[in-house]
Amino acid sequence: MKQDSNIQIEIENNIATLTICREKQLNALNQSVLNNLSIALDKLAEDSTVRVLIITGQGNRSFVAGADIKEFQHFNTKEGYELAKNGQENVFDKIENFSKPIIAAVNGYALGGGLELAIACHIRVASESAKLGFPECSLGLIPGYGGTQRLGQLIGKGNAFEMILTGSMLNADKSEKIGLVNKVSDDKNILIDAKKIAQKCIKNSPKALNSAIKCINNSFYRNGFESEKTEFSKLFNTDDFKEGVLAFLEKRRPNY
Ligand code: COA
Repeated sequence: MKQDSNIQIEIENNIATLTICREKQLNALNQSVLNNLSIALDKLAEDSTVRVLIITGQGNRSFVAGADIKEFQHFNTKEGYELAKNGQENVFDKIENFSKPIIAAVNGYALGGGLELAIACHIRVASESAKLGFPECSLGLIPGYGGTQRLGQLIGKGNAFEMILTGSMLNADKSEKIGLVNKVSDDKNILIDAKKIAQKCIKNSPKALNSAIKCINNSFYRNGFESEKTEFSKLFNTDDFKEGVLAFLEKRRPNY
């Protein structure tokens, strides 16, 4: 077991299980977690003993409850742009384009940046009690880690509009029905089920898996990532964003 401050990696039977460990903050992604994730991905890409990666969250309440709102609450447009750019390039795009399969084991809340993390992975297994959603518009923001681009690819444009514009959370069954997750597991078996999928991948040629990942990714139009960064960052300069974040911190509904 390798122990970083806020991520843990365990490698067994050619499967690396990476756990995001900020349980008290529902595993929200702060800069330190993102930096550690980026470094870990580079190492795991080079490690020939690792054939598949599983990403999950610590505890039984949350996969990842989003980007860390407290960390970006005072950001301006430029800082917002850098946040989206660094996150996209160093973590989310790296995951989507990883040379080996990555499975998200969504063991609870996958909200905002947490759901963006899950949908950047190649395959998703969700626990029965998982809740998935994009609450960003309730904060006066939009998804900034590729969510506006990847969501429609998975669940179609109509479902993507509904999820992002309403901010509603979906349960695991509904998520499976619309293709947001590949499989629903009972809460205790989620890692076992993710490992079963991993073992099936491991039987296949690593070179073929790498090529398949590249080709599937290459079939999607990519230009929208730039507009996501621009629109995401512009919103940091609005009263709505300030009200949205303040309302979250004061544990009340925003007044738009
Ligand atoms: N960023 C920073 N902190 C977060 C967080 C986030 N995205 N999500 C949860 N936390 C923190 C809470 O602030 C709280 O910290 P505190 O104990 O210091 O007050 C702790 O995690 C537990 O969360 P809490 O809100 O008390 O739990 P809950 O069970 O009442 O609600 C959620 C759970 C997931 C519904 C709620 O935490 C939530 O809405 N989180 C934000 C989701 C979001 O908007 N994500 C997108 C960000 S772009």
